[in-house]
Amino acid sequence: MSDKVDLKALFEPKSVAVVGASSNPVKIGHKVLNNILAGGYRGEVYPVNPKGGEILGLKVYKRVVEIEGAVDLAVVVVPAPVVFDVVQDCVAAKVKFLIIITSGFSEVGNRREEKKIVDFARKHGMRVLGPNVFGMYSAKVSLNASFGPSKILPGKIAIITQSGALGGAMVGRSVVDRIGLSAIISVGNKSDLDEADLLQYLKEDEQTRVVLMYIEGIKNGGKLIKTLKSMPEDKHVVVVKSGRSKRGALAAASHTGSLAGSDNVFNGIAEQCGILRAESVDDAFNWARVLSELPTVEGDNTVIITNGGGLGVMCADACEKYGVPLMDDSVFLQRVFKDVMPEFGSARNPIDLTGEAGVEEYKVSLKKALKAKEINAVLALYCETGVFDPEGMSDMVIDMGQVYKKSKPILFSMLGGEKVEEIIDETRKKGVHVFDDVYDAASALGALYGRKRFVDEIKHSVETPDVRIDVVSIKRIISKARSEDRRFLMPDEAKEIMKLVGLTLPRWRIARSLDEAVSFAEEIGYPAVLKIVSEDIIHKTDAGGVALDLENKNEVIDAYQAIMKSCRTKFPKARIRGIEVCEMVPKGVETIVGGTLDPSFGPVVMFGLGGIYVETLKDVTFRAVPLTLNDAKKMVRGINAYPILLGVRGEKQKDIKGIVDVLLRVGKLMEKIEDVSDIEINPLMVYEYGEGVKVVDVRILLKQKGENV
Ligand code: ACO
Repeated sequence: MSDKVDLKALFEPKSVAVVGASSNPVKIGHKVLNNILAGGYRGEVYPVNPKGGEILGLKVYKRVVEIEGAVDLAVVVVPAPVVFDVVQDCVAAKVKFLIIITSGFSEVGNRREEKKIVDFARKHGMRVLGPNVFGMYSAKVSLNASFGPSKILPGKIAIITQSGALGGAMVGRSVVDRIGLSAIISVGNKSDLDEADLLQYLKEDEQTRVVLMYIEGIKNGGKLIKTLKSMPEDKHVVVVKSGRSKRGALAAASHTGSLAGSDNVFNGIAEQCGILRAESVDDAFNWARVLSELPTVEGDNTVIITNGGGLGVMCADACEKYGVPLMDDSVFLQRVFKDVMPEFGSARNPIDLTGEAGVEEYKVSLKKALKAKEINAVLALYCETGVFDPEGMSDMVIDMGQVYKKSKPILFSMLGGEKVEEIIDETRKKGVHVFDDVYDAASALGALYGRKRFVDEIKHSVETPDVRIDVVSIKRIISKARSEDRRFLMPDEAKEIMKLVGLTLPRWRIARSLDEAVSFAEEIGYPAVLKIVSEDIIHKTDAGGVALDLENKNEVIDAYQAIMKSCRTKFPKARIRGIEVCEMVPKGVETIVGGTLDPSFGPVVMFGLGGIYVETLKDVTFRAVPLTLNDAKKMVRGINAYPILLGVRGEKQKDIKGIVDVLLRVGKLMEKIEDVSDIEINPLMVYEYGEGVKVVDVRILLKQKGENV
């Protein structure tokens, strides 16, 4: 069944009731009504207040049920204890949507009342935005049903915000920066409608080009991922996400769990869905504006044109930081720009026109860059100099900004005194993208490139991996553990599951005595490894529970005794089930592959460089399941240590394909076997290209009873 909600009557209501409308101008109920009228809403407006009378020239209804016409949307601005009564009235009047502005519900622990209201509304087919919201604006019908700023400019950017206060501030900012909005919606407590529902509408809204979201916490991440993945290529999502949290109890139970702070996971999911994560509201606005107004960038040749060498170098640094690829064909650039540069200028990107360049030289070079089809984007920098002509510069920037809009992106950055500030302000008013910092300009262009790369990858990733795992046999192993009331799978069970997902392991057996350990080592062959088997000892190496590289029988005997002594001393209460004897695998690059349940996004898979520094370096990447081939490849490419896998200082490339295969198989396990909460392959030994990978150790935990992520 489709979980898509038809939100037409919320975004394009034909009639709106304001319940709690007040004649007192300082009250929120007055402000909302006033904003609706001042904003030029094109439908019917019905103020509701038990006192009746008239407010702002409109007849006041004493109750919603008294309104003669149909009500699509009711905005509720009465105190919390009265809200349920109003909701009952709205149900009786067959209102389609409610926006509950009122605070005092789950955000202050009053969950029961919130649930009562929402359950009642939903039961009667009425949907709820809020409570605890600042309202919404929808450009389609010029509806400003909020108590935020009255003035909102219509445009192409939709804002969804979890913080009402920040939403109000963003509206104010959008007016100052002359950024037009198609909608702004505050989601508050998200008791019913959430970001994913709203995105469903905005996805199809032809006016919206970019959705800017401010998110603190996510309740139903799976639904959000699905919606984000379904966004069309030419509709972009920019997110500012705050709030970091660690997964409580289970976090300590595995490296994967403790590395899966929501921020790490969110970054991975942002990449997976092609959304752009901004660090600040400033960046988010800059990116949203550029994405909504400039043409898409068609290729990897950006040219920096500057009249100041230093500014050019800073900009080149910024381009590297924000993933803006610079054109490096200096022969071509020399040919294009030679006429416009003095002898001592430089045609190596950045194109340095030198301090002698005035408006004319600047304009000619921008025109040349526009004409050259090999150049895909321009960063035009200007420092105030002795030959500076403010008026001419302002006209030229506006002219060029307009002309470029038809073919390729141009972003300006200008540095100087008062006059330059005036130019920046004036040119921005005309819709040209002018920044006062090269880093902001490069970051905004980086957003265009970020989207381009994502769209290109999606277009070219046609392969869908056909990974099969033996679900029935895996579930049988899990049932056995459950019947013994265990969350922790024994090493033999975990390893058997690895086989059932199609992964190979070194030879191994579990010894229950010293004699067994010796005879198994003789059977498996030397060098051998001994490892403690206990569900109570999570970090085996730290407990002295691992001995590597044992060459003969005597070393096995010594190691067995040392392990037992150390583990019994450090963990006197631990249940020790034996000692695992296994083949010592040759050294390769140690990596870690994990799976865990994220509280917001459900099952996720992790990849990183392994070894003892994994939790210190946190050089890991995450993706939500199901994984595509492209997701798995990008997880591997996404770690900082990726060059090690490519081979450093003459080393051969490592078997990246093997890692990708393991990620896909672990992803399939996390996707298909709901009972698994954590899996960790640590280390996954990676050998040279063509020589594969080996699961050296694996640990699997099941969900806690009652845990439902
Ligand atoms: N039907 C219709 N109107 C009613 C009803 C009813 N059943 N009962 C009361 N009213 C009227 C009241 O008579 C009053 O009108 P009046 O001025 O003519 O007397 C009006 O509704 C409002 O009621 P008040 O008791 O005066 O409540 P007040 O306006 O002070 O506060 C409010 C109501 C704004 C909903 C408040 O309870 C509240 O929740 N404030 C916080 C809102 C908020 O911040 N939301 C989150 C936004 S996000 C952010 O962070 C900015």
